[in-house]
Amino acid sequence: MSRTKAFLIILSIFMTILTTGWNCRVRPNSNESNYATKLEDILDQIKSYEQQVQLRANNIQTILNRQKIKHGTNAYYSNDERNLEFVKNFQETHTNLQHENATILMLVRNWELEGALKSMRSLEDRFNHLYKYTWTFLNDVPFTDEFKEATTLMASGKTQYGLIPSEDWDRPSWINETKFEENLLNSEKNGVLYGNSRSYRNMCRFNSGYFYKQKLLDQYQWYFRVEPDVEYFCDFQYDPFKLMRENNKKYGFVISIYEYENTIPTLWNTTKQFMEQYPQHIHPNNSLEFITNTSPIGSKALAIQSESDYNLCHFWSNFEIANLDFFRSKAYNDYFDFLEKTGGFYYERWGDAPVHSIGVALLLARDEIHHFEDIGYIHAPFESCPTSRYTRLNKRCVCDPYKEANIDMTLHSCVPKWWKFGAGKKFMNE
Ligand SMILES: *[C@@H]1O[C@H](CO)[C@@H](O)[C@H](O)[C@H]1NC(C)=O
Ligand SMILES: *[C@@H]1O[C@H](CO)[C@@H](O)[C@H](O)[C@H]1NC(C)=O
Ligand SMILES: *[C@@H]1O[C@H](CO)[C@@H](O)[C@H](O)[C@H]1NC(C)=O
Ligand SMILES: *[C@@H]1O[C@H](CO)[C@@H](O)[C@H](O)[C@H]1NC(C)=O
Ligand SMILES: *[C@@H]1O[C@H](CO)[C@@H](O)[C@H](O)[C@H]1NC(C)=O
Repeated sequence: MSRTKAFLIILSIFMTILTTGWNCRVRPNSNESNYATKLEDILDQIKSYEQQVQLRANNIQTILNRQKIKHGTNAYYSNDERNLEFVKNFQETHTNLQHENATILMLVRNWELEGALKSMRSLEDRFNHLYKYTWTFLNDVPFTDEFKEATTLMASGKTQYGLIPSEDWDRPSWINETKFEENLLNSEKNGVLYGNSRSYRNMCRFNSGYFYKQKLLDQYQWYFRVEPDVEYFCDFQYDPFKLMRENNKKYGFVISIYEYENTIPTLWNTTKQFMEQYPQHIHPNNSLEFITNTSPIGSKALAIQSESDYNLCHFWSNFEIANLDFFRSKAYNDYFDFLEKTGGFYYERWGDAPVHSIGVALLLARDEIHHFEDIGYIHAPFESCPTSRYTRLNKRCVCDPYKEANIDMTLHSCVPKWWKFGAGKKFMNE
């Protein structure tokens, strides 16, 4: 409907009101100059309405076209990649897909096939179908043909399947069986999460010190860790490996929370001994304060108390985009070996999340760690959803940032600490 037409309709309605009366009690004022004044009022109203509509349209256009607004306050790319031309041109301009030296990595069991496919479907749709990075699957038993067939068909690129050697997975023979069994029993009694599980301990130790030693990963510099049954809420719209490389990042995370202290009673004491023995490995611009500061951030007090100086903050390692060369470094391996020889992975239930996190926090510079705040992600029971509405609209996110499961909004999140003591809000004031 044209503006003139709309105006004529409104005008005729107005004339009808004037001549017939809005209702029976109020008679129209027949004063001619009042007609003119009222007409002008209405014209003004229409004009201002049209201006508002135009303004809104401009705003939406600005949001969609904007070059300056970023996905997140610490994002490196603006949203210009959202436009259709980008997607259209992508295949033509990227004849050599998989252009970063990277792989997507999943440690998974045969019976977890459905969860694996769910995660793959999500990451392919949201990111990898445009890039076709190879998927690498690792397992401590051989993958079945059924698993290989389904995952191969789900992947947009290649897939490869690795069998973890027993010495990288199983409990070493030097572990004191009596002490180990005692801890299993005590852990169960004390309600330690996964406390009575033998295989969980193997997995945590493997993820801490052996995943990057697997042959299939030798050919890569970067990995993106994916677990079964996760989901990514938003389109990536950029290659996170490229972002990491171009901005000199070594480790990327989405969620950061507090660890259960009863899984790691002596981890911090052991780490302190390591720091004393290997001062040369501690980076001068480390994130020690992020993992030791206990002052409350914001108006509310911390929910978590710690017995040691470690405040229990860690990056939730079921999501990781990181540089394998960091884990291959002498510094990280000295750290892992130091932990390994105490037997803490078996006499306690040290998780790979606090081990990676403390390693990263001590051995890397703050600026080498990246918070992917624009990638919505869920690994039950926690999720993270971008709080910026622009980001959610622009990246086609399907998530609710105000939901209870959104860990970033709760006291259990360490992300505010990262903002304050890490490199988190560097771009906030741009
Ligand atoms: C018509 O309106 C004018 C201006 O509002 C006013 O001065 C005048 O008294 C009105 N005449 C009648 C008949 O209502
Ligand atoms: C193994 O652990 C048990 C229980 O902690 C201890 O009594 C025993 O001396 C240990 N054995 C060795 C060989 O260290
Ligand atoms: C990728 O990285 C690995 C490990 O650093 C290296 O051996 C390999 O040569 C690299 N490949 C390419 C194509 O650069
Ligand atoms: C850690 O070390 C300190 C000092 O050496 C000691 O007092 C404390 O009991 C140790 N904590 C644990 C849990 O071993
Ligand atoms: C530590 O940070 C300072 C200030 O940003 C920088 O000048 C220095 O080069 C950094 N040191 C290292 C070893 O990266």
